Amino acid sequence: MAEPASVPLRVAIVGSGGMAVARAERIAARSDMQLVTIAGRNPDTRAALATRFGVEHTHDWKSTVARSDVDAVIVATHPDTHAPMGAAALAAGKHLFSESPLALTTLDAVRLLRLADQRGLVIRVGHTSPLRPGPRLVREQVAALGGALHDDLVMHFPFDLRAGRDAGFDQRISGHPLVYAILLGYPAIYARGPITHIAAAATMEPAGHAFDRAVAVVNLRFRDGGLATITYRRGFDGDSESGRTVICRQGVVDFSEAADHIGITDADGGRMLLIPDGDPWNDELSEFVAAIREGRPMSVSAHEAARVVDIIDAARRAADAGSAFAEI
Ligand SMILES: NC(=O)c1ccc[n+]([C@@H]2O[C@H](COP(=O)([O-])OP(=O)(O)OC[C@H]3O[C@@H](n4cnc5c(N)ncnc54)[C@H](OP(=O)(O)O)[C@@H]3O)[C@@H](O)[C@H]2O)c1
Repeated sequence: MAEPASVPLRVAIVGSGGMAVARAERIAARSDMQLVTIAGRNPDTRAALATRFGVEHTHDWKSTVARSDVDAVIVATHPDTHAPMGAAALAAGKHLFSESPLALTTLDAVRLLRLADQRGLVIRVGHTSPLRPGPRLVREQVAALGGALHDDLVMHFPFDLRAGRDAGFDQRISGHPLVYAILLGYPAIYARGPITHIAAAATMEPAGHAFDRAVAVVNLRFRDGGLATITYRRGFDGDSESGRTVICRQGVVDFSEAADHIGITDADGGRMLLIPDGDPWNDELSEFVAAIREGRPMSVSAHEAARVVDIIDAARRAADAGSAFAEI
């Protein structure tokens, strides 16, 4: 039974790192959500976060996700824990907001979808990258220029020499580098339609679970004939830029992660468009609440989030096979 809109959705957050803080800040500013408790393994960061927002905290995520005074759980931990924590929350009858990815394997993603379907619960995955104002503007302009022929997206973290333990450099925690190639390259995939071919390659140094640097490259072909190349680099020194060049049927769109504008080149010449302000992290929460309360569709459905896991899985297999893989 849907709750009246005036009753806030009571939320528990699992994790107390960067995204837990980002979501908690937004929840605190909303009247339709209420933060109830925080569960995390890090006693310092979880206590600081809980104190800041005046809520309880505990190390015990299992009992937290089953609390009777919690309607929804935000899983803001590292990728290795998303599937088990998400499954426990759904099994306890809670709506699930999971940071990306939904899971690290297709099997786990399908299990989560099934659990949610059986219990009539909403799953939202925080696939924020295509919802940021820059990528949104790029998408509009690409459509106005007749669609993409080739989207060349580069994610290169500047001054990224590995210092100490970092989850992003450990495959046991964050998965293969191709996981983040697809997650951060998702703006080049979002709303492009079915993928018909995928080829991928990755290299890590040293080879093994934990690496110091990695490069992952994914080549995609879509059903409409358009192409995309996603390049993801971690662990290199220097001030390199991340961005995109989208070659369209009637022009070119340029986007740099560091700029406040995008560039358009078409038959009328070159011009710049200012990127508007926006808060996609809050927009995702609004969509989550509206899906629970009013059954509204979300810009990234649970099935689309599971498809992202399928794409990651296909990229892994393509890289292992050293050749192209078709049809997703
Ligand atoms: N939507 C977006 O724009 C966006 C942006 C960045 C990241 N993300 C996603 O958000 C997720 C978290 O990223 P982040 O940047 O917030 O990472 P982070 O700052 O490292 O935070 C992760 C948190 O999860 C905790 N944690 C990990 N394993 C746990 C466990 N087994 N039990 C309890 N707590 C556990 C960590 O505790 P410790 O302090 O002990 O490690 C830490 O508090 C990732 O899946 C990432 O892909 C999304």
